[in-house]
Amino acid sequence: MAGSTGVLPAPKGYLKRLREICDKYGILLIFDEVITGFGRLGHAFAAERYGVVPDLVTFAKGVTAGAVPMGGVVARKGIYDAFMKGPEHVIELFHGYTYSAHPLAVAASLATLDLYKQEDLFNRAKKLEPLWYDAAMSLKGTPDVLDIRCVGLTCGIDLAPRKDAPGKRGYESLEYAFHDLGMMLRAAGDTLCVSPPLIVSEAQIGEIFEKLGKVIKAIQ
Ligand SMILES: Cc1ncc(COP(=O)(O)O)c(C=O)c1O
Repeated sequence: MAGSTGVLPAPKGYLKRLREICDKYGILLIFDEVITGFGRLGHAFAAERYGVVPDLVTFAKGVTAGAVPMGGVVARKGIYDAFMKGPEHVIELFHGYTYSAHPLAVAASLATLDLYKQEDLFNRAKKLEPLWYDAAMSLKGTPDVLDIRCVGLTCGIDLAPRKDAPGKRGYESLEYAFHDLGMMLRAAGDTLCVSPPLIVSEAQIGEIFEKLGKVIKAIQ
């Protein structure tokens, strides 16, 4: 699903069809899993949820639980080999960043991956999905709510834009949520986006959507 643009799920069969088209024309299929990776959709990666294998996967946020900056890319073996097995006299694609494999980031990511496994958090996200969905849908019918979409532990709530001021209601909502209710929201235009940590409790899910209801009603 497209996260940054407001939780837009791919239509049924869309990703499989993309895979077929890419295979047919020799195009690399790249999944940006910066939001969807590491359990957000109840699987290690969204690729698993949708049963489609891309050629490259980019990742970031969840690899360190957002605690330390780190990003990466996973490549199919053939692509990896093309970069790493060049002519005899060179070692590999000679490219690096100042902070590549920074020890602090690597330590944070290894600790995060251990916790994901020990606490079975990807399955936890999967089990919480129906409860999350029901809680989100309880906002249906709230004034100014046009649409609500959930995929895994994410939710996008489209609000009616103010006349001649698209994005204003979204921005006012996140300010109100933060300053008055102590809740951090993200707004993509007039779409409120929510994605809790995978350790969110059932009570906290209730609290999140109760507060969202308050925000939407307050920002008339
Ligand atoms: C889906 C998606 N891709 C990529 C990025 C950018 O990632 P980074 O800042 O790790 O380069 C973001 C940032 O929010 C994102 O949401």
